Amino acid sequence: MEDYMNVNLSADERAKCLLSMMTTEEKIAQMAQISYNVVSAEEYERFQKLGIGSFLHVLGQDTAKIKEQAAQTRLKIPPIFGIDAIHGHSLLNGSTIFPSQLAMSCSFNTDLIREMGRVTAKEVAADGLDWIFSPVLCIARDLRWGRVDETFGEDSYLIGELGAAVIDGYQCDNLIIACAKHYLGYGEATGGRDAYDTEVTERKIREVFLPPFKRACDSNCGSVMTAYGSIDATPLTANNDILRKMLKEECGFEGFVVTDWENVRALMTNQKVAKSIKDASKMAVEAGNDMSMNTPKFYDCMCELVNEGRIDMKYIDDAVRRILKVKFKLGLFDKKEKISRDVIGCSEHRKINMEITRESLVLLENKNNILPLKNGDIKTIAVIGPNADDIQAQYGDWTYFSHPEPKENVVPENDYYTVLRGMKTIFVDCDILYNKGCDIMDSSNESIEEAAALAEKSDIVVTVVGDCLKQYGEFRDRADLELSGAQLDLLKRLKKTGKPLICVLINGKPLCIEWLKDNCDALIEVFNGGDLGGLAVAEMLAGRFNPSGKLSISFPRHSAQTPCYYNQYEGWHGGRYMDVEAGNVYDFGYGMSYSDFVYDNIRLSKNEIDKDESVIVSVDIKNNSDIDGKEIVQLYINDVVSSIMTPVKQLRGFKKVLIKAGETKTVTMNINPEDLSLINKNCERIVESGEIEIMVGSNNQDYLTARLTVR
Ligand code: NOJ
Repeated sequence: MEDYMNVNLSADERAKCLLSMMTTEEKIAQMAQISYNVVSAEEYERFQKLGIGSFLHVLGQDTAKIKEQAAQTRLKIPPIFGIDAIHGHSLLNGSTIFPSQLAMSCSFNTDLIREMGRVTAKEVAADGLDWIFSPVLCIARDLRWGRVDETFGEDSYLIGELGAAVIDGYQCDNLIIACAKHYLGYGEATGGRDAYDTEVTERKIREVFLPPFKRACDSNCGSVMTAYGSIDATPLTANNDILRKMLKEECGFEGFVVTDWENVRALMTNQKVAKSIKDASKMAVEAGNDMSMNTPKFYDCMCELVNEGRIDMKYIDDAVRRILKVKFKLGLFDKKEKISRDVIGCSEHRKINMEITRESLVLLENKNNILPLKNGDIKTIAVIGPNADDIQAQYGDWTYFSHPEPKENVVPENDYYTVLRGMKTIFVDCDILYNKGCDIMDSSNESIEEAAALAEKSDIVVTVVGDCLKQYGEFRDRADLELSGAQLDLLKRLKKTGKPLICVLINGKPLCIEWLKDNCDALIEVFNGGDLGGLAVAEMLAGRFNPSGKLSISFPRHSAQTPCYYNQYEGWHGGRYMDVEAGNVYDFGYGMSYSDFVYDNIRLSKNEIDKDESVIVSVDIKNNSDIDGKEIVQLYINDVVSSIMTPVKQLRGFKKVLIKAGETKTVTMNINPEDLSLINKNCERIVESGEIEIMVGSNNQDYLTARLTVR
């Protein structure tokens, strides 16, 4: 038996041992990843025979032939199969489809997000795959950007915490590896346009964009994906400072880096920093990319570069060692116990999905406590709106409907609930009347009067509006964030009926919803709710559970107000546009409950600390209602005077706590030196002496304060 098959050696030792036996071509093959939909059938066959290191977008049933061909190669190195399991193993029809990352982030529930990761890993592994391209750690501050739905929202700290939790869940049983993406600054591209240049300084990178990835490194994330774009005119793919130095050397990243789709090619064809794919391949590898996703010429170019003596083997050896180490860690070389396919979409996974879906919903308005709906008063309910019965809109991006290729007419094998089905299921004693009312995109395609006629006959109207997949995702940035089509006309006409108007939003990103805030009796944000979004909405309306989600992203009044994230620096000319009212419609951290939480008695374990000390903040929270509820307690800080400007508020802690009706709970949170630090003008992370304002509350506008002195 060769040493690399000795299970008593560490993954790294086994990788080094195998590496020492490999030819240059065998090594380079490990560095390439190929998808069936970019090459001809003949080329695909060739890559399989070469024993290419990785394939993507292959589902379990199609892996057998590739594995067989790898087993025919000299060293029989198994390929690693990557898949976009973005919110569940969502490219596989029949798997558990969770709410989108944006929706789940509103739960602020790290335990459930970890569980979601564990469940997804099981389903992916049961399907015979090893690697998922998740989580997205991009920061969604420009709402025009098409991929806001894929993020954990706008706050770097929250993204770091939730990212670490989901990576832990994905990788805890060693079934698969995660991929933190897109490294770096992808969501911040100029004008909110996907894959464009990002104008950020090194200091800003360290303050805002790097911390979630550092958390991912500390959580042993198996891989990182290089973003498409560029920072200050250097493509990320060719960015030695950001990839090799910052990620690998400084953050101590131990896994491997994969480029995004065709990034190597784009260095030549789009970003134009390389004359040929060969030059682009050299640049990418030297900068720190270990695997190239889908630039088919990469393999031949790299072989030529070595033969011509134009690339140092040390880069190739390090890349291959990292890739092989992950393969050993995952047990791809060893006999593994198979996970039964029965887990895919199983009832235990559905239960976890239900829990996180419930906690992801955000109650934004509840005028006169119209919710929960009172039993007995309501006989007929009109369910209206383009997203009331549209599972594609509810799923959002990255499911088998849209990827790897768009497939509009697939019939879901999942037992899914739109809001219409949810309402019929929960309100069994009521007549449920349905009309679509209008289209999301085409304002001429409407049935507003028919919908209004149903509303007239009903005791209450539940309208489901929002957006559809054509309006977000890759290549689909949006300049106008108003409700599209005739949706606002529909809402205004329904309002005229005088019936209580409950509005449910199913959308990929924040839209401009000021009219809805002012005019709807209740307003609920779902974002993309997965299999069970519609059921959870109906349960919440019926009071079967108490809503507990809070927004992980702010909502502007007007499209041109974006970016409108909460943690900006203070300006001094009022900060408002002359033609739009100041402030957001809803801020990060906002969300209501059926309970009423009252905060009192904020206190610090010490009022003065040294720079390397921690402090504990405590607060008493009373549930002043007769219903048990979960509260997301949020802790923000502000460095009052510092050598460099700091944001007006920064989230530095949160806790989700269950507080029983009438009960008072003391919640404590720790603030450590890292939480108090800033990145100074020399790009160093330091704690400065001075005053820190500490804010603890139910959202970022409503809090108690305490002062801390740092000596
Ligand atoms: C494109 C996307 O940017 C990335 O998020 C995804 O994982 C890969 N390509 C693979 O589909």
